[in-house]
Amino acid sequence: MDRPDVTNLGVVPETLLIPLAARMIAPERHPDLGFRDVEAERIGARIGFDPGRFADDTGSMRGSVVRASWFDQIVSAFVAAHPGGLCVSIGSGLDDRPARIGLPESITWIDAEFAEVVRLREMLIAPRPNVRDLTIDGLEPGAWVNKLPWDARRPALVLGEGVTMYLAPADGQALFRSLGEAARVRSASLDLVADFASPFMVRHSRRNPSLAKTRASFTWALRRSQDVATIVPGLSLVEEADIARRCGALSWTVSRVHRLITGRAIYFAAHYRLTDFH
Ligand SMILES: C[S@@+](CC[C@H](N)C(=O)[O-])C[C@H]1O[C@@H](n2cnc3c(N)ncnc32)[C@H](O)[C@@H]1O
Repeated sequence: MDRPDVTNLGVVPETLLIPLAARMIAPERHPDLGFRDVEAERIGARIGFDPGRFADDTGSMRGSVVRASWFDQIVSAFVAAHPGGLCVSIGSGLDDRPARIGLPESITWIDAEFAEVVRLREMLIAPRPNVRDLTIDGLEPGAWVNKLPWDARRPALVLGEGVTMYLAPADGQALFRSLGEAARVRSASLDLVADFASPFMVRHSRRNPSLAKTRASFTWALRRSQDVATIVPGLSLVEEADIARRCGALSWTVSRVHRLITGRAIYFAAHYRLTDFH
């Protein structure tokens, strides 16, 4: 069988290799996190990807795994509470969360990505009846968000893991507004889970050792988790996670100093909910 080619990915799609490397090496490098992703190991081997390219960047490697575990927990709780729910993962890269968490067939799961990543996913990830890919490049958020199966009153969970920082600010805001509007129109509760970079992190993104090995840089910054609630009226914060605190001594120190100077997190992951449709 031909080996799918990941040597020529687009500027932003190439960043999917960073968390893929992290998931592949997690059991060996960070056994204390208790994380294993056999699908990541299989996919990495199948594309002939050497995670050593990013392995020395402890902050990004640990951070990706701490973040993936936090997202996994939220998805598992949502699935348990809403067995007939809709899950949409924006910018899934080569992550197969449905396999990792044992997603039940009663959940509809959609992975939204660029066309070239969807092509790779189709070659690398086994199809499941309740899981499908959606190609979203070149589409306005309003256009593709409305294509999602937002059945009336069906609760939805939308994930953006390691994605918002690559969006143009206007596109990110339009995406979040479209998601809020779609939920409002159908009176379906919306849980939104994403991680965000601070202005400092965006300004210095090319100094991130892993990102520096790609051609990508961050473009969208948010100052506080509450700022998202100003983009989508009615959205409330359920929980915020301090990922940087668990990413090794350097990340911990930099994030502490950033907080002392600015009073804000250098990077945060947050879970929001929209249930107020008035
Ligand atoms: C750092 S990777 C994270 C991948 C995945 N969420 C994970 O944790 O393994 C960022 C991903 O976001 C995707 N992405 C960024 N902007 C996007 C956009 N506008 N539309 C679709 N996908 C996007 C990229 O293609 C890439 O796969």
